[in-house]
Amino acid sequence: MSRIPQAGYPALRLRRLRQNDWVRRLVRETTLAPSDLIWTLVVHEGEGRIPVASMPGVERLSIAEVRRAAVEARALGIPAIAVFPHIDGAKKDAAGSDAANPDGLIARAIKEMKDAAPEVGVLTDVALDPFTDHGHDGVVENGKILNDPTIERLIEQGIMQAEAGADILAPSDMMDGRVGALRAALEKGGHQDVMIMAYAAKYASAFYGPYRDAIGSAKLSAGQLDKKTYQMDPANGDEALREVALDLAEGADMVMVKPGMPYLDIVRRVVEAFSVPTFAYQVSGEYAMLMAAAKNGWIDEERAIIESLGAFKRAGASGVLTYFAPRAARMLGA
Ligand code: PBG
Repeated sequence: MSRIPQAGYPALRLRRLRQNDWVRRLVRETTLAPSDLIWTLVVHEGEGRIPVASMPGVERLSIAEVRRAAVEARALGIPAIAVFPHIDGAKKDAAGSDAANPDGLIARAIKEMKDAAPEVGVLTDVALDPFTDHGHDGVVENGKILNDPTIERLIEQGIMQAEAGADILAPSDMMDGRVGALRAALEKGGHQDVMIMAYAAKYASAFYGPYRDAIGSAKLSAGQLDKKTYQMDPANGDEALREVALDLAEGADMVMVKPGMPYLDIVRRVVEAFSVPTFAYQVSGEYAMLMAAAKNGWIDEERAIIESLGAFKRAGASGVLTYFAPRAARMLGA
């Protein structure tokens, strides 16, 4: 871009194109619309809506509320919902046995959403952590997270989700080889149209803290729950490209970078290297930071929300998974 000849000051005054709203709109390089948003929400076994303390404005929703959310998403022009389960502690065990339960919370939530608003895509997380009492995403033996035995479990879980009607499976576990195994199992099971959005570049991040609170796996404090043997080192960028390449080769339709805002460089690199649909996840900690500052009056809440989401589009993302989705869609005037 810098190679394009351009005039110098005063012939060139870049402020000319900023002088009022209509011209700013005219030359705007990227736009944010409700169709860029995937609404991340948490479903729980009980009744009603339960506030998540560390995420002001986010509530765990009952199955009935999730049904309503799907209808709301449709009305707001939000294309898809990503649903996460808050499982009763009593149902959790070391193996995460409830993960593939065809009558479990996630299966019921999927069916209700697809019944209430079939036009809205449903995305489900393929990972064991909401179902394990230790909070890890995989099968643990002698303190080690076992890769291949975990994949076996993930396949059961993913197929159950596909059978319940999930449109997009999103493996978030970071085991090696899980995308290929899942793709093969979907093909074999007659689910060739089910999409995979791989959490391809997922980092071992401090920014997932409030999520553990939201899905109730916070009993191990975020500091203790170390996922560094499977999630990526935040210092690495080249490795993200290898992860993405591998997941695409194994049959992922879309890829994701997570967390979002501290990793916009990764989003940009993935988009430039692969030109495939690339999503960013504005995670719970990012949500919490923005809301904490806004609640203190330190930043303008609505402007910060829209600016943070627009940044993902500028970085090249196809869309954003965000807890702000319904609010943002309303602000964007859907
Ligand atoms: C785990 C999973 C996590 C999130 C989504 N899926 C947490 C983790 O990896 O420990 C985090 C979401 C968020 O922080 O908003 N499979």
